[in-house]
Amino acid sequence: EKGPFPFYMLKEINEQPAVLRRLAQDYLDESGKPVIEPDLLAALDQADRLYILAAGTSYNAGLAAKSVFETLANIPVEVGLASEFGYNTPLLSKKPFFLFLSQSGETADSRQVLVKVNEWGYPSLTMTNAQGSTLSREATYTMLLNAGPEIAVASTKAYTAQIALQTILAKGLGEKRGVKSAQDFNVREQLGLVANGMQTIIDEKDFINQLAQNYLATTRNAFYIGRGYDYAVSLEAALKLKEISYVQAEGFAGAELKHGTISLIEDGTPVIAIITDARVASHTRGNIQEVRARGAHVLTIAMEAVADKEDNLILADIDPLISPLLSVVPTQLLAYYTSLNRGYDVDKPRNLAKAVTVE
Ligand code: BG6
Repeated sequence: EKGPFPFYMLKEINEQPAVLRRLAQDYLDESGKPVIEPDLLAALDQADRLYILAAGTSYNAGLAAKSVFETLANIPVEVGLASEFGYNTPLLSKKPFFLFLSQSGETADSRQVLVKVNEWGYPSLTMTNAQGSTLSREATYTMLLNAGPEIAVASTKAYTAQIALQTILAKGLGEKRGVKSAQDFNVREQLGLVANGMQTIIDEKDFINQLAQNYLATTRNAFYIGRGYDYAVSLEAALKLKEISYVQAEGFAGAELKHGTISLIEDGTPVIAIITDARVASHTRGNIQEVRARGAHVLTIAMEAVADKEDNLILADIDPLISPLLSVVPTQLLAYYTSLNRGYDVDKPRNLAKAVTVE
């Protein structure tokens, strides 16, 4: 039930702090250590490469988690579009492990890869919101997102749940492997900080609606820019805007602007910059100057530690490694209000289905 919310999407955005707290409860013990099936951890420990396969928003959740696995668990990661991977399979490593991300657990593009993975005899894990779903039944292991039903076609809480659960898994694997960065990463504390930070953003939703009106009300196109973790989330931010408000939006790596994209910037073109990582903050700020000089209407979302007083939205400080968990929330709300203000059916965008069961 939608309760007081006009659309499921807003309800599901609102549920995200609770979803993260529930994941921490379900998958961490009292001391904050991940509780993960020992067989699954053993199989992952033996792998020399993790292949994350998915479609749409779930694919973007894999992109955001690549650095998390590589940093915390010291395992090389390749993220692939399931629809491409099955028919254009790259040269596989000697001991691959396959992770399927799927909210519905029914996406045919992902399933066709899993069928092949099973024929090849490699181990696999499905992370899904749907217990008993096809991808869950056919994979070697399953981890449930426990995010509650996601009704809106545009995925929100499944994206953040997938990143959070992958972070817990990476922490568990890293600890098993004795990786120092995993030992030092306090996942329970971090997820708590993220949940609180999400709530702060959600409480600012009327202000975000104003930003949507100021920057995105009538535009036909828009750009998200960021570097590293902020680039990964830019792709999801752009996808949200495209899906429900029909704005032609693109996520770009900040530095790639000068290699071509900048020619698309015109007077008034909205450019939304995401800045959470001190290592690249000044470079992204440089890219902002470049687009501003060409007339872009720039909105900035920055994490407290690297924020300027001119930034439009400030995010609470969390470990930048998992910043997409937090930085995605204002972009979900920007997409939501842009769609709402244009009078669209936010939950049921044209031409899209919640689960696509054909290849
Ligand atoms: C798409 C949905 O068709 O499938 C997206 O419209 C979704 O919202 C994608 O991200 C993948 O779905 P799933 O269930 O495999 O995560």
